[in-house]
Amino acid sequence: MIKRRTILGAGAGAVLASGAGLASQANAQDMNRWGTDGPSGLGQRTDTEGEVYPPGTLAPRGRFGRMERLPTLELESRQNFLRSFRTWVNMSLSAKAAERSNQVLRENDLPIDAEIPEARALELLMNEPLPQTASRAWLSSQQLMWNGLREEFEGRVEKYLGEMEAVDNYGGILELNPELDIPKYARHEIHIMPGGYVESPVAGHLYHYGTNGFYMGRNDNDEIHIGAARRMAIPADGKVKRILDLGTGVGQFAMALKERFPDAEVWGIDAGGPMVRYAHLVSTERKLEVNFAQRMAEDTKFPDNYFDLVTSYIMFHEVDPEATRKIMHEAYRITRPGGVFYPIDFNTLDNPPRTAYQQYRSYMDHRWNCEPWTPKWRACNPQQLIRDAGFDLNTEGPVALPRFGVLNATKPA
Ligand SMILES: C[S@@+](CC[C@H](N)C(=O)[O-])C[C@H]1O[C@@H](n2cnc3c(N)ncnc32)[C@H](O)[C@@H]1O
Repeated sequence: MIKRRTILGAGAGAVLASGAGLASQANAQDMNRWGTDGPSGLGQRTDTEGEVYPPGTLAPRGRFGRMERLPTLELESRQNFLRSFRTWVNMSLSAKAAERSNQVLRENDLPIDAEIPEARALELLMNEPLPQTASRAWLSSQQLMWNGLREEFEGRVEKYLGEMEAVDNYGGILELNPELDIPKYARHEIHIMPGGYVESPVAGHLYHYGTNGFYMGRNDNDEIHIGAARRMAIPADGKVKRILDLGTGVGQFAMALKERFPDAEVWGIDAGGPMVRYAHLVSTERKLEVNFAQRMAEDTKFPDNYFDLVTSYIMFHEVDPEATRKIMHEAYRITRPGGVFYPIDFNTLDNPPRTAYQQYRSYMDHRWNCEPWTPKWRACNPQQLIRDAGFDLNTEGPVALPRFGVLNATKPA
């Protein structure tokens, strides 16, 4: 049984929630984890403020799409405002900044339709008011967004830990390992999320509500993840009985895959314990039996040739180059002959030329939004890395996320 204080961060004592092995072990261990009517039938619980509602319920304000509404109108309205503001910055203001950027290129007799050296793009745009304003407004709105969410989730951490604790032993397997040796590259506060993925006990809450802002209104029904799961390439023999999602975060893609393949044994693993603990809470609420484990993608602990489908969704651009190479080899080891590996990420297919403004915004993202590995991911050749690991590349077939192109691979039979 996990106590709410046992997963306060990566350094806390070792915890293994019900069932640490493969699904078959877990099923034998507890055939009736759902009880008769799922976690909400477990009885009522009183939270720290005296409200009474079923365990596993994040907030008593209903839902937007599939997500629990934020717990106060004040927080919700601020977050909605910031999301709208971000949308305006990324669409309207950025369009003006891009126009100004093209004008600067013309004034300097430079092409607007070919990539110029990044140093030159930065030199030209770094002191231009419009690009500067777009970049600053985007970053500031993100800081405000994280701060508001952190105040709520960390400010009432006992309540949120209690909700997770209430369902730790129900639903699919949850394996937490605070002793996990998490390399430094995975401990950064990526996209300036306070505490990153591994330090804050409510990292999953922060990430889910924060990225709801990032997706600018296309996330509260898991729209993107469900669309990608529906289009996911599958093995030629059609057999999809075991699926693994690497760097699963709050489990949206793993859950979407479980919805597409309801009979499959589905696992999501992530470096962040609080991420998978929250994923488990959500999947339990949805009565989706998905297994989540805090493990590194470069050392998944699964047997050779175990999975029919190995996926990842925007994990690789946050991983350092050496780990990237190791993860590709690990993916090969655990994919069965004929099985498919489909890593969805930016720039997996090719690197189309970037405008000067895009280069400027990428640099600002890397430098100020704490995206340490994106330039290296952009510069590496994922297709070659996948081939080096032993896979055959598939250049045709369904495109999971259209703007990312087709990049999936089959383990030769
Ligand atoms: C951008 S998030 C993507 C999360 C999720 N796939 C989604 O669709 O939102 C990247 C995730 O990868 C995880 N991660 C990064 N490096 C990892 C590694 N080597 N092993 C396992 N997880 C890793 C992070 O903890 C984080 O949750």
